Amino acid sequence: MGCKALKFLFWVSSILCLALFSRGFTPADNYLIDCGSPTNTTVGDRVFMADNLASKLLSAPENVLGNTSKSVTSSDDSPLYQTARIFTGVSKYTFSISRRGRHWIRLYFYPFVHASYNMSMAKFDVSTDNHVLLSSFGVQSLTVKEFSVNVTTNSLAITFSPSENSFAFINALEVVSAPDQLIQDTAGSVQSSVTFQGLTWQALETVVRVNMGGPTVSFENDTLWRTWVPDQRFLVGKNLALSVSNIGAVKYVDGGSSEDIAPSSVYGTCTRMNSINDSSSNFNVTWEFDVDPGFQYLVRFHFCDIVSEALNLLYFNVFIDSSMVVRDLDLSTYLVNILAAAYYMDYVTESATSNKIRVSIGPSNLHGTYPDAILNGLEIMKMNNSDGSLSGLGTISSSSSSSKKNVGAIVGVSVGVASGVLLAGVLFMLCRKRRRLARQRLSKTWVAFSINGGGTSHTMGSKYSKGTTVSLNSNMSYHVPFLAVQEATNNFDESWVIGIGGFGKVYKGELSDGTKVAVKRGNPQSQQGLAEFQTEIEMLSQFRHRHLVSLIGYCDEKNEMILIYEYMENGTLKSHLYGSGHPSLNWKQRVEVCIGAARGLHYLHTGYAKAVIHRDVKSANILLDENLMAKVADFGLSKTGPELDQTHVSTAVKGSFGYLDPEYFRRQQLTEKSDVYSFGVVLFEVLCARPVIDPTLPREMVNLAEWAMKWQKKGQLEHIIDPNLKGNIRPDSLRKFGETAEKCLADFGVDRPSMGDVLWNLEYALQLQEAVVQGDPDENSTNMIGELPPQINNFSQLDPNGSPQFHGSSVDDLSGVSMSKVFSQLVKSEGR
Ligand SMILES: *[C@@H]1O[C@H](CO)[C@@H](O)[C@H](O)[C@H]1NC(C)=O
Ligand SMILES: *[C@@H]1O[C@H](CO)[C@@H](O)[C@H](O)[C@H]1NC(C)=O
Ligand SMILES: *[C@@H]1O[C@H](CO)[C@@H](O)[C@H](O)[C@H]1NC(C)=O
Ligand SMILES: *[C@@H]1O[C@H](CO)[C@@H](O)[C@H](O)[C@H]1NC(C)=O
Ligand SMILES: *[C@@H]1O[C@H](CO)[C@@H](O)[C@H](O)[C@H]1NC(C)=O
Ligand SMILES: *[C@@H]1O[C@H](CO)[C@@H](O)[C@H](O)[C@H]1NC(C)=O
Ligand SMILES: *[C@@H]1O[C@H](CO)[C@@H](O)[C@H](O)[C@H]1NC(C)=O
Ligand SMILES: *[C@@H]1O[C@H](CO)[C@@H](O)[C@H](O)[C@H]1NC(C)=O
Repeated sequence: MGCKALKFLFWVSSILCLALFSRGFTPADNYLIDCGSPTNTTVGDRVFMADNLASKLLSAPENVLGNTSKSVTSSDDSPLYQTARIFTGVSKYTFSISRRGRHWIRLYFYPFVHASYNMSMAKFDVSTDNHVLLSSFGVQSLTVKEFSVNVTTNSLAITFSPSENSFAFINALEVVSAPDQLIQDTAGSVQSSVTFQGLTWQALETVVRVNMGGPTVSFENDTLWRTWVPDQRFLVGKNLALSVSNIGAVKYVDGGSSEDIAPSSVYGTCTRMNSINDSSSNFNVTWEFDVDPGFQYLVRFHFCDIVSEALNLLYFNVFIDSSMVVRDLDLSTYLVNILAAAYYMDYVTESATSNKIRVSIGPSNLHGTYPDAILNGLEIMKMNNSDGSLSGLGTISSSSSSSKKNVGAIVGVSVGVASGVLLAGVLFMLCRKRRRLARQRLSKTWVAFSINGGGTSHTMGSKYSKGTTVSLNSNMSYHVPFLAVQEATNNFDESWVIGIGGFGKVYKGELSDGTKVAVKRGNPQSQQGLAEFQTEIEMLSQFRHRHLVSLIGYCDEKNEMILIYEYMENGTLKSHLYGSGHPSLNWKQRVEVCIGAARGLHYLHTGYAKAVIHRDVKSANILLDENLMAKVADFGLSKTGPELDQTHVSTAVKGSFGYLDPEYFRRQQLTEKSDVYSFGVVLFEVLCARPVIDPTLPREMVNLAEWAMKWQKKGQLEHIIDPNLKGNIRPDSLRKFGETAEKCLADFGVDRPSMGDVLWNLEYALQLQEAVVQGDPDENSTNMIGELPPQINNFSQLDPNGSPQFHGSSVDDLSGVSMSKVFSQLVKSEGR
């Protein structure tokens, strides 16, 4: 999409913003303890406090041996390893947390021999209240363990539990706040097209953090005190790769990576496919990492095109093990058309079945591209298992009850450590979004049906439970007993499943009074959908509109997350466009469906004191009842919009790939205009009857929004419309429809029409199709209607403030009656 000048302005302003705001990160909580040390210890620009200062944080068994350290002098440049604390019983550090959210926990171990304690023989568990970090852990050499956990209470406890007849030790300990943006909630999934959600709940352990093609980047050169190690020792086939460095070229751009996510010394070097002298090269560059089988891993790729001389020259494929995670990755088209913009993406693997993870990059098969591929940085983080454990052996309950209680002795020990110890422990971690291509969740909800705000009530009854009356007008009485839900779905009969989505399964069901319902059951084991579940109940119990899906009830007994909607006979709009064998809709039906959906969205945006932004507008979320009336569904991601005096809501990017507002993506600022953008994509989808992203098509056709805009701008939209529509669609109606979609897809939200304007224009497109203005035979021609006075063709002149006619409560009334009538009257009076 053009608009180069605006893009440039945007770029300049984002660079300015960065210059103003990208000061180093200051952690709100910052506990650094040099265990066993009698004095504070300075490492780089940080001070690790003396052990005695930390003793008030520590609760340990009574017979503490105290500080038995011998003073040792050493020229060792890693002073943290000269002393240690030894725990002979279960002991606990409790840190008070001033700012909730993700925190680093870094544990430093260097086993040495002191008096009767040979630390190489220690064996112990380390856990927090919610997660086992290490179990039956012992170390033979210097080891740094790095974890990050989301602390959601006012304190964080770290417990050391020695194994039977053994003891625990630690040389130094950090608990430090991490930036909120570091780990976003969603990531791509390696083996499925379903976006992984729920990363904010995960405890993570850094497995490896690598600076490709460059030297070790020490914690002193990292705003979050991480250490990045060189990639050479992980490379399989070193002669296949080249190292490149150009640190000065790295640019941080809004919507891409930031210095906290990885420093420019990481983005500014890369390992590149060695194809320089051979344009027929065809091989992968592969790295191999040791992992524990049985766990899922978060893999974060860092990219920055420091090798190309111009945009759009470098295309390559990215693999994790044998799965391709991105095909034909073109770094220059992500977010901003800027060469060498720092960028990252996250993927979650399936549970590892072997003890290695292989990451590969390789040449694209796209015709005419030079074989090349790069990788600048890589992080692999282990995710806790379903027991909350990061270690195969432990569970939380066993760790807190393990070993004999209170044998404990704590020994502060100080000992010289062989010099030259490097803080080379392989650490890991870091931040942010960049979801993968196929981020659409599977089609969800058929569900839904609306009962027009009346006092209708249903009796949710069963043989087992007394009937419960669900009154749709009172928010209190949506709750439905689990037994009634079981009854209605024949005990969740698998053969009654009508859809599966990210949230769980959707069953067809029937209430005891014969009303057909759709029952959406959240996966009971997962916490992931909880927020969406609550949002959906909240939204749907507040909003009633004939073009919004209606909620009949919900059930949260037994940790269930069940939503009950009335059944929508005709499924999703998407299923009527392609891929499902449903009979195709004619043009008038399609425009009417779009009008219905536009009304629903318009009501969301304006029908309430605060605008509500849907955030996941797509054809799979527009459902059709038995009369093909459209209703908007799936409010799980909705957000209440800005207050009157603000212009946007700032939030993590959510939504479905292919429909996402690029401005929202860049700035993570949400307005109603993001829904307008997605709706514009739906309009083209309706017109062209093809998926919004179709990777099997030639490159320029993959993204429907781009492809359709190209033809729209040429004024030749008729070339790409659904063949079923050819010959049955009036040119003026098509033109109006195309213009409306085009305006929705404007690069900048301010340039897009409001949903009210969109609605108005779709009504107009429908009129142009019908092409008969009652009682005026002269206008029975599209040409006549096409020559309406300019104010009718122009959104902003017609209605500078966004269709005041539709504001407020009048929306509900208006949407019920024939908007077409209102419109044609207006045409007549203004047109004469
Ligand atoms: C040691 O560090 C603590 C906090 O980290 C500080 O309050 C204290 O003043 C320091 N002591 C010395 C002797 O520097
Ligand atoms: C711990 O040992 C240091 C010598 O390394 C000594 O200066 C300090 O006083 C000792 N502390 C206690 C509480 O005995
Ligand atoms: C300490 O334990 C390790 C491992 O068990 C052993 O190899 C080493 O010889 C021991 N050192 C001493 C001084 O006992
Ligand atoms: C931590 O978890 C809470 C939910 O308990 C979530 O709202 C919050 O965003 C998370 N914070 C981070 C930084 O992941
Ligand atoms: C790290 O920082 C030091 C100075 O702070 C600098 O001399 C060195 O070159 C930096 N190393 C890297 C890899 O950026
Ligand atoms: C490419 O070929 C040139 C000349 O044959 C040689 O000097 C150069 O080292 C080669 N580069 C690589 C990366 O093999
Ligand atoms: C690169 O690795 C992937 C995954 O293992 C494999 O499918 C692909 O064939 C490899 N490509 C080349 C050129 O070896
Ligand atoms: C990790 O633990 C959390 C609870 O703290 C749980 O919700 C989540 O499902 C666990 N992760 C996995 C992958 O099982």
